[in-house]
Amino acid sequence: MIFETHAHYDDEAFDEDRDSLLASMQQNKIGFLVNVGASLKSTRSSIQLAEQYPFVYAAAGVHPSESAELNEARFEWLREQCAHQKVVAVGEIGLDYYWDEPDHALQKKWFARQLELAKTLRKPVIIHSRDAAKDTYDIMEAYHAGDVGGVVHCFSYSAKMALDYVAMGFYIGVGGVVTFKNGRKMREVVEAVPIERILLETDSPYLSPEPYRGKRNSSFHLPYIAQKIADIKGLSYEEVVMLTTENAQRLYQIKC
Ligand code: NI
Repeated sequence: MIFETHAHYDDEAFDEDRDSLLASMQQNKIGFLVNVGASLKSTRSSIQLAEQYPFVYAAAGVHPSESAELNEARFEWLREQCAHQKVVAVGEIGLDYYWDEPDHALQKKWFARQLELAKTLRKPVIIHSRDAAKDTYDIMEAYHAGDVGGVVHCFSYSAKMALDYVAMGFYIGVGGVVTFKNGRKMREVVEAVPIERILLETDSPYLSPEPYRGKRNSSFHLPYIAQKIADIKGLSYEEVVMLTTENAQRLYQIKC
């Protein structure tokens, strides 16, 4: 069974067929799925999906690009959501400097606060980091993020940086980019990182792997990603599925 560690089925891209898609996951060998919150609203809908489907789990958190919506009262609400028994991680949280807004100081503030929250709750974190490699790493180090661990999702930095995160106790999330023609950097990351530290993810509805690049993504495309990792690492497809599922179960403390 494949473990999908990062998807957004609450996204409006799935409004037409969300229920039929989710209902057919397990027949298609997707055995576990974490629906990741990226705002207060999507945290709420992620928990609703987790309540509806036994194999779905939720992450509760506010994405850096949405961090301007946070204030103390809303942060308190977020803390309460994290206590839900199917919330397995705090995320996705981090820094995104691709866009100018919200300003970096605000992003850093709420990233640090959510890291602290995860540490208080002893839950792992799901990190989103784009064009902000150094600041992300520095904040994670300063707040001892390694105490709870987690995953750097949709990893987009160098192989050397990946190994720094692994040394901190983190997993590396590998998605569709590894199949792209211009995905050489990601393939170097997969080469460098031990399979025991790799998680499978799609970030659905975004980032479809080849041969579906540009189309709506879904967890059904995970085998293309697993096969690519198998090719790079010289492992069988079955080994990659088994090992990455064990990794995710260990991280999220989910028994089979
Ligand atoms: Ni995401």
